[in-house]
Amino acid sequence: MGKKRIFLTRTIHHFALKKLRRRYQVEIHTGKIPISQIKLRDKIENIEGLICFPYDKIGSDLIDAAKNLKVISTYSVGFDHIDTQYAKKKKIRVGYTPEVLTDATADLTFSLMLDVVRRVSEGDRIIRNGKWRQIYGAFDYVGMDLRGKTLGIFGLGRIGSAFAKRAKSFDMKIIYHNRKPVSKNKENRLGLKYVTLNKLITQSDIISIHAPHTKETDQLFDMKIFKKMKKSAFLINTSRGKIINEIDLVIALNKKIIAGAALDVYGSEPINENHPLTKIQNVVLTPHIGSSTKETRVKMAEITVKNLNLGISGKKPIYSVGY
Ligand code: DGY
Repeated sequence: MGKKRIFLTRTIHHFALKKLRRRYQVEIHTGKIPISQIKLRDKIENIEGLICFPYDKIGSDLIDAAKNLKVISTYSVGFDHIDTQYAKKKKIRVGYTPEVLTDATADLTFSLMLDVVRRVSEGDRIIRNGKWRQIYGAFDYVGMDLRGKTLGIFGLGRIGSAFAKRAKSFDMKIIYHNRKPVSKNKENRLGLKYVTLNKLITQSDIISIHAPHTKETDQLFDMKIFKKMKKSAFLINTSRGKIINEIDLVIALNKKIIAGAALDVYGSEPINENHPLTKIQNVVLTPHIGSSTKETRVKMAEITVKNLNLGISGKKPIYSVGY
């Protein structure tokens, strides 16, 4: 019997490919542009395992085309690009990579927070554009202290909790909103308090989004919310772009309804230099790099391969969505 066939929508680390090639007949989509849905549909027909990325939409139509597929292993913690309900119905396992990227994403969130409140990237742009004329004025490039400020965490999962831990050491007051409150033990350990969404929005000096993108969170952060936020407040998002209504955010920033934003994720990615967000000074933008550290990406590759191996042999992946 020949080797089982698998497909990767993008290459991963050499060590991981070596492992995969030992067991499977491996095909990889190369090039910088994601594989089209039509081509992926073609590929998926005859494979038993798929390794994909957050920008690959794996909907029910694609899953229907997969006659032998046993597992979808995504190289990401997010799995909103996969119709997991439908995969479950078709008895296809879905593996993902949480935990290993928690610290990297919490670190990036923290750096975005510091950057936007202390205007680091803005200062860098001022110098690079030859606009730094006078030194050390009393009102020049003033930012905001973190100490004593209220941080509102929307979504207290692994990454939200790791971010809270970092914020606590900066003497911030931390409140959070979640589908349901976490245990008192955890609240005490992290030094935070559960509040309603409304309180989170109205009381926070900085709001950081750490929730998955679902029907409930889709476009949740819109003008109605921005108008309730403090005028001096900042918004940070390292989870999924579609949780924010970007058109409303651009208006809110331009009209100074809120003070600034720091974003790693967008409604549609990649964004380019002409995106309206790039024209606003009090915004820090990074290109979806939450998990992007050498160490983390290696661990993600390891888990992705393990998830795929388990799924192909009919077992539950180490990190499995639902089934
Ligand atoms: C993920 O893995 O889903 C994250 O978006 C990576 O930053």
